[in-house]
Amino acid sequence: MTTILTITLNPTVDFATTAPHVLPGPKLRCSEAEFDPGGGGINVARAVRMLGGEATTLIAIGGPTGAQLLELLAFEGGSTVAIQGPGETRRSVSVIDESNGKQYRFVLPGPVWDEQDVERALVAVDRAASAGSLVVLSGSQPPGVAKDFPSILASHVDGRNARLVVDTSGPALKHLAETPREAVYLLRMNVEEAEDLAGRQLPAVADTTAFARELVSGGVAQLIVVARGTDGSVLVGGDEAWHAVPPEVEVVSAVGAGDSFVGGFALWAARGEPVEECLRTGVAAAAAAVTSEATRLCDKILTEELRSETKLTKV
Ligand SMILES: Nc1ncnc2c1ncn2[C@@H]1O[C@H](COP(=O)(O)OP(=O)(O)O)[C@@H](O)[C@H]1O
Ligand SMILES: [Mg+2]
Repeated sequence: MTTILTITLNPTVDFATTAPHVLPGPKLRCSEAEFDPGGGGINVARAVRMLGGEATTLIAIGGPTGAQLLELLAFEGGSTVAIQGPGETRRSVSVIDESNGKQYRFVLPGPVWDEQDVERALVAVDRAASAGSLVVLSGSQPPGVAKDFPSILASHVDGRNARLVVDTSGPALKHLAETPREAVYLLRMNVEEAEDLAGRQLPAVADTTAFARELVSGGVAQLIVVARGTDGSVLVGGDEAWHAVPPEVEVVSAVGAGDSFVGGFALWAARGEPVEECLRTGVAAAAAAVTSEATRLCDKILTEELRSETKLTKV
């Protein structure tokens, strides 16, 4: 089977705690913190494992927080390739106000990268990506990494005869869409990100599909996926287009739903399943993630149930 390699240049150690009330001013006495590894690629790898597959995660780390991150990942049991990043690994803090259940999330930027740091990361990708593997880039870019990083990564991955999946946003997404390279296998975004790129609203499935077709015919990626919230996701590839819609689920926390989609899709793609079945699995995994608490991603049994109830239509 194809191997899955996820890349996280700006991972975090997330620490979660609670306080009786969150107020400015007084010291807030918090509960004992729980620590979790975080960052797009780490979450995608975790989703793959939850669904019964294997993924290696490549991370850039630094300092004591980086060492703590490695320890937490070792405890989770997946395989990790760590490279030296430019500074101390960042932390994120989330605090739940016990009086009303509201969660406050504080996210730090992480260390600033320079060109040598990027070069080291690309060398590590060249080593870790074997022919035929599926390489996943998910999450925001660290400060200092140029917006053309996904394009450069795409040519490295292509050089290894591997396939690149990209789920990013902001300037990196814009650059990738405006500077097409055939080397990207799948580019995924949500409808807000797609509308931002398109410069127009994409309310109906037909609008979303038309835009995704423009990207595919412009050579941006072989496959484009656009997520439409509760209305599932649209996939365009070659001259095919599909729309997969999950059953209605109870919304608990949407945190990690995008990464669960990518994990589900990547696992089915690694198993050589047809793209529409990869789409169906991604949509079901995202819906499963929505129904579970923030730090839990996609339960395997729930994903399988939702998968069988997900409606797939050719558009
Ligand atoms: N209520 C819902 N039911 C089912 N799927 C949902 C629901 N809300 C969001 N999703 C799916 O979850 C995923 C969220 O991805 P995205 O918008 O990239 O979020 P993020 O990057 O914050 O994880 C999408 O695939 C979307 O269709
Ligand atoms: Mg997203």
